[in-house]
Amino acid sequence: MILVTGASGTMGKAVLNEVAKEAAKSGENYRAMFRSATEAAKAPTGTSTVIADFSKKNTLPSALRNVTSVYLVCSPIPQLIELEWNMIDACVNAGVGHIVLSSAMGAREYRKSFPSWHRRVEDKLKSTKISYTILRPNSFHQNVLTYYAPSIRSQSVFHASMDNARVSFLDVRDIAVVAAKSLAGGEHSGKTYELNGPEALTYSELAEKITRHAGRPVQYVDIPADVQRKAMLDRGMPEWQADALLDLQEYYVKGKGGHVDGLLEQLIRRPAITMDQFLTEFGGEFRPQPEVKGPVEVKPQTEAATA
Ligand SMILES: NC(=O)c1ccc[n+]([C@@H]2O[C@H](COP(=O)([O-])OP(=O)(O)OC[C@H]3O[C@@H](n4cnc5c(N)ncnc54)[C@H](OP(=O)(O)O)[C@@H]3O)[C@@H](O)[C@H]2O)c1
Repeated sequence: MILVTGASGTMGKAVLNEVAKEAAKSGENYRAMFRSATEAAKAPTGTSTVIADFSKKNTLPSALRNVTSVYLVCSPIPQLIELEWNMIDACVNAGVGHIVLSSAMGAREYRKSFPSWHRRVEDKLKSTKISYTILRPNSFHQNVLTYYAPSIRSQSVFHASMDNARVSFLDVRDIAVVAAKSLAGGEHSGKTYELNGPEALTYSELAEKITRHAGRPVQYVDIPADVQRKAMLDRGMPEWQADALLDLQEYYVKGKGGHVDGLLEQLIRRPAITMDQFLTEFGGEFRPQPEVKGPVEVKPQTEAATA
């Protein structure tokens, strides 16, 4: 029995879809873990679901009943260390055989920001006797929608202080294929996969691609990091998050995020999804949305981290 955690999130949802697809062929049993019944109700038809929370240790044993293999992922928050540690302890107690851990690019060497938090979880996992596969992906294609589409829709522009740094973006659906294969253990046991996308783009090149696929001019404007930080805080982003994002950006600006090595393609045994393919699918998200008539619910705008 496979357990997919974080099944309401960007990465976990993609893994759940992939696991469900594979299970339809193989008959393997799987379960998806959610924190809320509302999210659990959105699981693919036929999915067995469980409500549990990494912070509530007493909820974890029932989520892990009869589970042999776990996909472990948590939101990019500083508490992820303690939260994922709780889950690893629960997996040890439940006799889980294999864990596929969602980590991040940079966990090997970068002692700041998200990668350093993920590294502490990697180290804890390696200190147990559980067999593991660690996935360290670069930046997701999906970040472009989450973080840049809002200002592109309203002002045809997106800002950062990336200079000419290159990013080999990859798609969560491709990472999910690797995760689903790795859940079987076997040849993937004891492996750490650094996963990069098929091409390394500067943000100006990204803007050109968005322009082409959205059918409207879109510009990338480079701004100083302190201006970017102030803009993040002005939008209501917590200080820890703005600092973690800027620290991660520094890593990219040092040229660390532009590797293209073909490992992803090797693991999924087909070409990886390109930024052009992604933008062909989602180009409409970068066009101004039609005005909604009638009463609308106003929600505070929040932003999550990119890694
Ligand atoms: N974005 C990138 O480019 C990138 C690149 C490399 C690595 N990563 C890493 O990938 C991971 C996943 O990112 P994502 O974008 O998929 O995050 P996400 O959308 O925020 O999803 C996180 C999931 O974790 C769940 N979760 C949070 N707190 C929990 C708790 N206490 N107990 C149980 N579940 C909990 C969330 O459930 P709720 O819905 O209930 O909150 C959600 O399902 C992060 O750790 C990030 O650092 C991201």
